[in-house]
Amino acid sequence: MAKQILITGGAGFIGSHVVRLFVNNYPGYTIVNLDALTYAGNLENLADIASRPNYRFVKANILDADRLDQLFTEYGITDVIHLAAESHVDRSIVSPLDFVYTNIVGTVNLLNTARKHWAADYAKHRFYHISTDEVYGSLGEKGLFTETTAYAPNSPYSASKAASDHFVRAYHETYHMHTVVSNCSNNYGPYHFPEKLIPLFIHNILQRKPLPVYGDGLYTRDWLYVKDHARAIDLIFHQGNVGETYNIGGFNEWKNIDLVKLLCKLMDQKLGRKQGESEAMITYIKDRPGHDRRYAIDATKLNRELGWKPSVTFEEGLDETIDWYLNNNEWLEHVTSGAYQHYYESMYENR
Ligand code: NAD
Ligand code: DAU
Repeated sequence: MAKQILITGGAGFIGSHVVRLFVNNYPGYTIVNLDALTYAGNLENLADIASRPNYRFVKANILDADRLDQLFTEYGITDVIHLAAESHVDRSIVSPLDFVYTNIVGTVNLLNTARKHWAADYAKHRFYHISTDEVYGSLGEKGLFTETTAYAPNSPYSASKAASDHFVRAYHETYHMHTVVSNCSNNYGPYHFPEKLIPLFIHNILQRKPLPVYGDGLYTRDWLYVKDHARAIDLIFHQGNVGETYNIGGFNEWKNIDLVKLLCKLMDQKLGRKQGESEAMITYIKDRPGHDRRYAIDATKLNRELGWKPSVTFEEGLDETIDWYLNNNEWLEHVTSGAYQHYYESMYENR
């Protein structure tokens, strides 16, 4: 069946992988990528598919309810996959309100617009909200987050994502909208903005800059290759049960310091540097306030119901990721210099 899918945040890290997968795999769908192009949005992430006939880009903000309404009419939007968000925990500690506006108010704007346009028959439409494992708070030494773990967000970022999840749930319960939610662990891979741990450290190793490890470095994250997240989103969008939540994770826990040491070792090998050269740049710095000690996802439900599991090992994914950054120096340079923010003007504004 032909669909006109609105993907929000498609110029960001995960969104660009989701847009690419849908544009490539579903020529019969129209993919409308709506993105405000904040500092995290980069159209260079999608240069390879920008002129495909089933792809449209719209620069818009999810806080602009009138524009959303107009776009739903103009494109006859049938479904939403919602990724647009402020996504960096450290920024949320400095500017919590930005997270309240985009992550909470923006999500409610989208829900309201979908509700208005789809009210005649909700069953024909799907609203898929992409969320995070951080809504569950922090784990001790043992145990995993399941879909029934109680929410206990600790940062302004995770609190705003938790609130948006609750609104999506409420629109299903109250208005019977066909919603689905997934909560994923830490992603890594190509096009990851170098403010997050893995791309920041790849960048700093390349530049021989200090590697700033927060606190004692013994914080644990569960890493998933971004293309496996995009595959899970495809499956859940098409086959996930309405009103349900699916956890997505890599079954792949790493303490930050072990991950950083592995990255240093692999990068030294690839760059032909002396072993230990990059590791010597590790610098322990003041901890992140409210820093969650450990995340780990139980993705059994997604495996059991929809047959999903990660397709690459961490070693393969990390190897591919490092090679991608080494081969895409220009992308990294544009992102760190800010030049990527002129891409939109050169591509779209004078047409
Ligand atoms: P990102 O920061 O790389 O991208 C976010 C995108 O949203 C950017 O393109 C930005 O321009 C756009 N955006 C921000 N505010 C907007 C607004 N008001 N209107 C329209 N567009 C706006 O984020 P990401 O890491 O790709 O994460 C995408 C989604 O996945 C987020 O909802 C995040 O919470 C969730 N998530 C991320 C991870 C992860 O490890 N990165 C893990 C689980 C879930
Ligand atoms: O778990 C999913 C979440 O993963 C997503 O919802 C978020 O959008 C995404 O940013 C990510 O959040 P984290 O806070 O876990 O990711 P970050 O890359 O910022 O940090 C990973 C770990 O590394 C964390 O324990 C903090 C630590 N860290 C991070 C940076 C940037 C450092 O030690 N030094 C650093 O410079």
